[in-house]
Amino acid sequence: MTACSNKISQVYIPEDKIKQKVAELGKIISKDYENKDLLLVGILKGSVVFLSDLMREISIPVSIDFMTVSSYKNSSFSSGSVDILSDLSTDISGKDVLIVEDIIDSGITLSRLVPMLEKRNPASIKLCTLLDKPDRRKIDINVDYVGFEIENKFIVGYGLDYAEKFRNLNYIGIYNL
Ligand code: IMP
Ligand code: MG
Repeated sequence: MTACSNKISQVYIPEDKIKQKVAELGKIISKDYENKDLLLVGILKGSVVFLSDLMREISIPVSIDFMTVSSYKNSSFSSGSVDILSDLSTDISGKDVLIVEDIIDSGITLSRLVPMLEKRNPASIKLCTLLDKPDRRKIDINVDYVGFEIENKFIVGYGLDYAEKFRNLNYIGIYNL
């Protein structure tokens, strides 16, 4: 266990379970995208640890890119698109895009981002998330690859933060807010 805090009461998903799941996902993705032009699009910053492990479990040629988007979860601003704070550096037209997320919560961010990326004419666009909190969903979205479905708890580690900290934990823990 690395850097800890008394706010983290419990290891929720240990390192070995994450590793096993990421390997499983990598295997399935490698099979599903055989002979395709796979581009992993990581949503910063939370996906960075998951994406870097996942790409090494993928056995077919793969490219990566990243974007940062803002979501309006805590405001009344509810219509329209997400703001792209930093965009992809590559043209996704004709590519098989797999969006990689750390966690899907309300679903608001991705439900807005996907149509924006679809306008750029990718060959396909699918979603992969390490964690899913289905009970929290406000907008229905179809997630193609899910690592773990979890309860409605606030978690940190393996890329996920509380106030920008704890992303470096190699396990996922419950943070007592
Ligand atoms: P949403 O699906 O649009 O609500 O956004 C999901 C984003 O909320 C994720 O990418 C995380 O950045 C953040 N998030 C949701 N639940 C948690 C959690 O339990 N811990 C840390 N970040 C979370
Ligand atoms: Mg995030």
